[in-house]
Amino acid sequence: MARNKVTVIGAGNVGATTAQRIAEAGLADVVLVDIVEGLPQGKSLDLAEAAPVVGHDARITGTNDYADTADSDIVVVTSGLARQPGMSRDDLLAKNAGIVRAVVEQAAKQSPNAILIIVTNPLDAMCHVALKASGFPRERVLGMAGVLDSARFRTFIAWELGVSVEDTHAFVLGGHGDTMVPLSRYSTVAGIPITELIPADRLKELETRTANGGAEIVKHLKTGSAYYAPSAAAVEMVEAILKDKKKILPCAAYLQGEYGISGLYVGVPCKLGSKGLEQIIEIKLTADEQAALNKSADAVKELCTVIGVA
Ligand SMILES: NC(=O)c1ccc[n+]([C@@H]2O[C@H](COP(=O)([O-])OP(=O)(O)OC[C@H]3O[C@@H](n4cnc5c(N)ncnc54)[C@H](O)[C@@H]3O)[C@@H](O)[C@H]2O)c1
Repeated sequence: MARNKVTVIGAGNVGATTAQRIAEAGLADVVLVDIVEGLPQGKSLDLAEAAPVVGHDARITGTNDYADTADSDIVVVTSGLARQPGMSRDDLLAKNAGIVRAVVEQAAKQSPNAILIIVTNPLDAMCHVALKASGFPRERVLGMAGVLDSARFRTFIAWELGVSVEDTHAFVLGGHGDTMVPLSRYSTVAGIPITELIPADRLKELETRTANGGAEIVKHLKTGSAYYAPSAAAVEMVEAILKDKKKILPCAAYLQGEYGISGLYVGVPCKLGSKGLEQIIEIKLTADEQAALNKSADAVKELCTVIGVA
């Protein structure tokens, strides 16, 4: 029986750590692709040489050639540029849209049955680009953001209460950005709603810290952005799909009327299994939560309009 095959496009911080986590968890063989010659080859050789010590037999290939990605089960897209001095948000948006379009077209040609997990920012708009460029159904084009955002929220809740992160579950809806909607009402510690455990004003502070979680890391690092937690989050989605786990995870999914939103990628609870997106779970929102979700969707729409995909 052949092992699963996962392609990771972009051999930068997020891509390389994603490849490492997939291989070390023994989930699949990994093909690491980048536009820079030598970078994916060097990193994959280094990762392969760790295998005897770590103890796995996953094959890791580094390449600049999409032919090597043929028949992948999953393609994780992390390729993109970081914002450089003097570059506007819209310039970055257009540049990354061009990169995501190009890599997805090539990858989709080689692996027409693959499931795409998009990581490149601005996340929700890049998912839309990937949906169009691949021609795949929405079930096979998903974005990673909610798992990361809710992991950050879980971390802060666990620290606040001095409990295990494993007992802590949290939900974050909406676009990946400062308009995301952390849903405290649906967040629990060992089944107890956190609204019963943490005073409302303190909860608000944890929600705000979650929404600014990416920026907080960038402030420390000064150059570059988070990648340990983002890669862990992407790999949780990979594992849920490869193992057909039917896990309910917050992912960016293309909405067609769910939550009253159509034609946009927005973070919602999704059931992930071997077919990719197997169900969008619709939960009842209060008027305030729905308004916050709509505001978040409007922010996604604005970006999609700038790059002409909405
Ligand atoms: N969705 C999320 O929650 C989340 C979290 C963290 C990072 N990100 C995003 O993930 C992306 C990657 O972040 P990073 O820290 O790994 O950046 P990085 O700069 O370390 O890596 C990006 C890599 O993409 C490569 N690349 C550029 N153009 C390419 C092309 N046309 N084909 C193939 N490869 C190409 C670059 O050479 C580089 O190696 C960024 O857009 C970042 O904002 C998203």
